[in-house]
Amino acid sequence: MSLFKSAHGGNTREAAELLGISPEQLLDFSANINPLGMPAGLKRAIIDNMDCAERYPDVDYAQLHAALAEHHQIPASWILAGNGETESIFTLVDGLKPRHAMIVTPGFAEYRRALQWGDCTIHEFALREDDGWQLTDAILDALTSELDCLFLCTPNNPTGLLPDNRLLREIAARCKWLGINLILDEAFIDFIAGEPGFIPLLHENPHIWVLRSLTKFYAIPGLRLGYLVNSNEQAVAQMRSRQMPWSINAFAALAGEIILCDSAYQQATWKWLEQEGARFEQQLQNLPGLTVYPGQANYRLLRCDRADIDLQRTLLEQHVLIRSCANYPGLDARYYRVAVRSQEENDRLLAALNNTLSGTTPAD
Ligand SMILES: Cc1ncc(COP(=O)(O)O)c(C=O)c1O
Repeated sequence: MSLFKSAHGGNTREAAELLGISPEQLLDFSANINPLGMPAGLKRAIIDNMDCAERYPDVDYAQLHAALAEHHQIPASWILAGNGETESIFTLVDGLKPRHAMIVTPGFAEYRRALQWGDCTIHEFALREDDGWQLTDAILDALTSELDCLFLCTPNNPTGLLPDNRLLREIAARCKWLGINLILDEAFIDFIAGEPGFIPLLHENPHIWVLRSLTKFYAIPGLRLGYLVNSNEQAVAQMRSRQMPWSINAFAALAGEIILCDSAYQQATWKWLEQEGARFEQQLQNLPGLTVYPGQANYRLLRCDRADIDLQRTLLEQHVLIRSCANYPGLDARYYRVAVRSQEENDRLLAALNNTLSGTTPAD
C-alpha cells in the first residue's frame, strides 16, 4: 500500500509530515525531474525580469507560441500552451468530449481523472508483465469504431518504455481509419536523445494530438509549462477558445521563450542520462530480491520480490522517498518507480536499498 493520499510522486510535504522532518531533509526519487536543475540562463532571466509579475502576461502568449513553433518547425496555430501538460490534458478532454476512450494500464493517472469529469466510458487496455510491460500488436485488435479516443504515453509512465515505432505507426493508421483521436503523451520524450516523437508526422495526421511537458526535462515543475499540438488549426482554435485566460504565469511563459534554445543544457542532460541511467540500472539489477525493468526515460520501474518488505516505508525511514506504484491500476504493492538522479544521489539510494534488501539495519 502507498503510505500517502496523493496520487502522484513528488509529495515531499506529505512524506515529511509522516516522519516529522522538513521536506528538504528528504531525497526525492518519486518525481522524475532532471537533476541538473533549472537551466542557469533561465534562472538569470527570471531574476532580471521580476517586473513581469506586475503586468498581465500576453493573453495570446504570441512569443511563447512562436518559440515553440520555431523549435518544432511547425505553424504557431498548431500549438496551444498550458499551465503544465496537465492543463493541456484537461483542455483537450474538455474540447474533444469523448464518449468512449481507451487508456493503457499501468499508465499516468490524469487521463482517467480528466475523462471522469465528462460522460465517458473508459476502456482499459492492460499491458502484461509477460511482455515486459511493452505495448504489443494486441492493441490493434482492441481498437474498434466504438472508440473516439485513445491515450498512449510514449515513453510510458511508469515503465519508461517507448513502443516500437512500426507499431505506433500502425496504431496511428488504424485510429485514422476508425475515426479515433490518438493522443500521444510525450511528456518524457525529450530525455531520449535523437527521438523526434510524432510532431514531424502531424501534417498528414490531423487525428493525432501530441502532448508535451517542459517541467521534467527543464526541471521547472513549480513554474508549470506544457503544450498540445495538432495540425488542424480550427480544432486547436476551438481548444484555445475554451481555455481559461492567462493560465500560464509570466515566468513560465518566459521560460518557454528561452529554454528550447539552450542546446548546452540539452546536451548535458543527454550525456548524464546516457552514462548514469545505464550505471544506475546495472547497479539496481545487482541488488538481491529486486526485478528491474529496463526503461529509456529518466526513471525505472522496480518489483520487490520480498513479500516481507515495504520498500517505500523502509527507505523513507532512511529519508529517501520513492514512488509506490500500488495505486496504478495493473500494478500492486510490489512495484515501485525511482527517478534517475545524480551519481551521488543514486549511490545513496543504492546503499539504502542494499541495507534494506540485505537485512542490514541502517546506521542512524
Ligand atoms: C506521463 C505524464 N504526462 C504528463 C504529466 C504532467 O506534466 P506537467 O508537470 O507538465 O503537468 C506527467 C507528470 O508527472 C506525466 O508523468
